[in-house]
Amino acid sequence: MFASNPTICIIGLGYVGLPLAVEFGKKTKTIGFDINQARVDELLKGIDHTLELNAEELAEATLLTYTTNEADIKNADVYIVTVPTPINSSHQPDLTPLEKASALLGRVIGKNAITIYESTVYPGCTEEVCVPIIEKVSGLTFNKDFFAGYSPERINPGDKERRVHNIIKITSGSTPEVADYVDQLYRRIVVVGTHKASSLKVAEAAKVIENTQRDLNIALVNELALIFNKLGIDTLEVLEAAGTKWNFLPFRPGLVGGHCISVDPYYLTHKAQQVGYYPEVILSGRRVNNSIGAFVADSVVKMMTKRKAHVVDSRVLILGLTFKENCPDLRNTGVIDIIEELQTYNTNVDIYDPWADHKEAHHEYGVSLIDAPIPGTYDAIVICVGHNKFKEMGAEGIRALGKPNSVLFDVKHILPKHSVDARL
Ligand SMILES: NC(=O)c1ccc[n+]([C@@H]2O[C@H](COP(=O)([O-])OP(=O)(O)OC[C@H]3O[C@@H](n4cnc5c(N)ncnc54)[C@H](O)[C@@H]3O)[C@@H](O)[C@H]2O)c1
Repeated sequence: MFASNPTICIIGLGYVGLPLAVEFGKKTKTIGFDINQARVDELLKGIDHTLELNAEELAEATLLTYTTNEADIKNADVYIVTVPTPINSSHQPDLTPLEKASALLGRVIGKNAITIYESTVYPGCTEEVCVPIIEKVSGLTFNKDFFAGYSPERINPGDKERRVHNIIKITSGSTPEVADYVDQLYRRIVVVGTHKASSLKVAEAAKVIENTQRDLNIALVNELALIFNKLGIDTLEVLEAAGTKWNFLPFRPGLVGGHCISVDPYYLTHKAQQVGYYPEVILSGRRVNNSIGAFVADSVVKMMTKRKAHVVDSRVLILGLTFKENCPDLRNTGVIDIIEELQTYNTNVDIYDPWADHKEAHHEYGVSLIDAPIPGTYDAIVICVGHNKFKEMGAEGIRALGKPNSVLFDVKHILPKHSVDARL
């Protein structure tokens, strides 16, 4: 019933959708669809501004085409949805892109199509929210005329070692036959194998807890950092000592940003509350992680006042704005919390990030990036992101940007303890 050599359509060509489209486009006819014309135009020119793939890697997908035209994606055999799943300002899931993509599927799918969702959601979302939209718009009946799968993505942007083809992938399908088909489909591109979950809900829940677990582990060490700061103990030294025990997990304190770890737990807590359970542990972890930016900024200001630096109108340099190192991704960066808290003290903040796009930073956060820091200028310097470029500058290079008595705070532990004034 299902095509042995299917035409695959990927809906949403971002960090997740593009690498997936390229892998499938090496094996079978694949159409990459995105609503963003600029994104499709750059891909047609062999450019990927997310820097996940270079021109040669894009060119390897000889069976892949790109389009923004709905008419081009009618009657594909398999549709894979990789659109964003953000949260709104109240930390609730914003399902708009997912709902729009599902309505699009309703307009284009034919009989026996399989719609696989990869976007991170809460357990039940695919069958409770997405499938009914497809049914309504298409007039087709679920599990009779069309079928669904859920296969979460685990890629790690900027990571050149762990890629789509060598990360074990969870698969699932809305019937046992569809589950087998979806599993075999992914096995064509994932050389390290797959894990077939028993239902879409299990696959959805597995993804969301992977990131929730990570969020909570970081929240614990962040809380430890807040305690040890009050006790005058260096957190990293404590973690290194405790880490010599075989079962102590090597998490480090830090800002938790990005569109996954700082977002996905809210999908789970939203669903939990919908069914009458108020998650204590998960939400308290989120609160701790959300408080770290302000803690860093307040600590910097306290150190400045101890040195009798005049805080109002002082100049503070922020090194790094992206949510993680060596990657241009600015989404939900925790660095913004540091900047905003510093600005409440009427400091003048310069932001330098060799990876970040200036226009995007301005568009997303209303901040202007500087092209290069001016040596000898700053009253305080905060290393917020561990870009290699900052590591290469070393303590001496970074200190040279500050005034003689400047404060140096290393959020990312990229410099030796003795060369900084404080670290998280
Ligand atoms: N980036 C990651 O590291 C990562 C890892 C695992 C899972 N995820 C999940 O994968 C999903 C996608 O994330 P991403 O980082 O690739 O997002 P992204 O913002 O990089 O890309 C999403 C793309 O979808 C397009 N789009 C939006 N609405 C659309 C629509 N209705 N129809 C067609 N295209 C549409 C956008 O233009 C954009 O190009 C999210 O649910 C995310 O949580 C992301």
